[in-house]
Amino acid sequence: MRKYDFGSGRTDPGSFPTEALAEAASEAVHELGATLVNYPGDMGHQGLREVMAMRESKREGIDVSADHIALMNGSMQAVTLVAEALMEGPGDVIVTEELTYSGTIGAYKRLGAELVGVPLDEQGMRVDALADVLADLRRKGTPPRFIYTLATYQNPTGSVMPRQRRLELLEVARYYDAIVVEDNCYGDVHFEGPEEPALYALDDSPNVLYIGSLSKILGPGVRLGYLLARPPMLGRILDRRYDGGNSLLAAASCAALFRDRLWQHLAETNAILKEKRDAVFAGLEEGAGDLCTWSRPVGGMFIWIEFPEDVDRDRLMALCAERGIVVARGQGFHIRREDVPAIRLAFGFASLEAVREGVPLLAECIHQARVPVMA
Ligand SMILES: Cc1ncc(COP(=O)(O)O)c(C=O)c1O
Repeated sequence: MRKYDFGSGRTDPGSFPTEALAEAASEAVHELGATLVNYPGDMGHQGLREVMAMRESKREGIDVSADHIALMNGSMQAVTLVAEALMEGPGDVIVTEELTYSGTIGAYKRLGAELVGVPLDEQGMRVDALADVLADLRRKGTPPRFIYTLATYQNPTGSVMPRQRRLELLEVARYYDAIVVEDNCYGDVHFEGPEEPALYALDDSPNVLYIGSLSKILGPGVRLGYLLARPPMLGRILDRRYDGGNSLLAAASCAALFRDRLWQHLAETNAILKEKRDAVFAGLEEGAGDLCTWSRPVGGMFIWIEFPEDVDRDRLMALCAERGIVVARGQGFHIRREDVPAIRLAFGFASLEAVREGVPLLAECIHQARVPVMA
């Protein structure tokens, strides 16, 4: 029973543009026709690359070329491919935020990477700590293959790194000659206030790579993401690609869908997500304000809820399961699997009613999961 599904980062199903996508798909089939007998190749459908170049150029206020964008089978393929291309073997170091996306942790560990964590605060990765980590790795003779960072609407904490810190991060990375991989898959899920620039937009070095996605603005079912990198880095990563490219049919359909209506679509879906986020805030304030603290993300899909050490995590997860509440345990996002006293609540997928009903129940569960601490 998943009555209150706050488990994973998915967008609102109620506003999925089914009819518009059906029309776009029909247009795409007619456009592609018999060209579908060909393999798409490493770069992928030109039309979608152009639409995504327009998306990045407009958001970032810089000129992004479609020639620097290679479409991927979801952003996860790009996350994995950069590591496959940049790592030389098991034991290679990758530096990440200490808390980061569980999928990335799994993928990099499976490739044999040693993840070295940098603590975060409400402004994302702490650059003073990053400098210490890089200095230490240099001393040991094990420089990282790259730094993987979620600077905008961080998963799981929801933090956004301010521009000044981004500049400092880039400066530290340059000093240590470290490649930066920025995963910005929540980039356009923005609710209020000024938007911070992508790292890619602040540094034109080929050593700053960027990963985007359509999963969080449309749905992971289309399996479309992309890697944005300047030569020669783009070629170096694509040298490791052996899959023949990703679906032309999906890419052409999404290009037709978004060519003229991307920004309107985002305005509509972001308004719906913002209402849900606000309902989570209200429910937490009411039910758990005396016990928990939580992040106040201005975008993305996650709220990071921290509770006192006397909340028993196993008991909390069991109580949630009994009531049909799905949330993600904090431990899954810690690179060393430390059982941090926190959960991640994803507010995009559940209906507004489910959020209004479920968050107070979750707050109850947190209270009930407290155990007396032995003196
Ligand atoms: C930070 C981050 N990167 C990558 C992904 C994978 O997304 P995709 O569906 O584009 O592969 C996710 C999905 O939740 C994510 O949160």
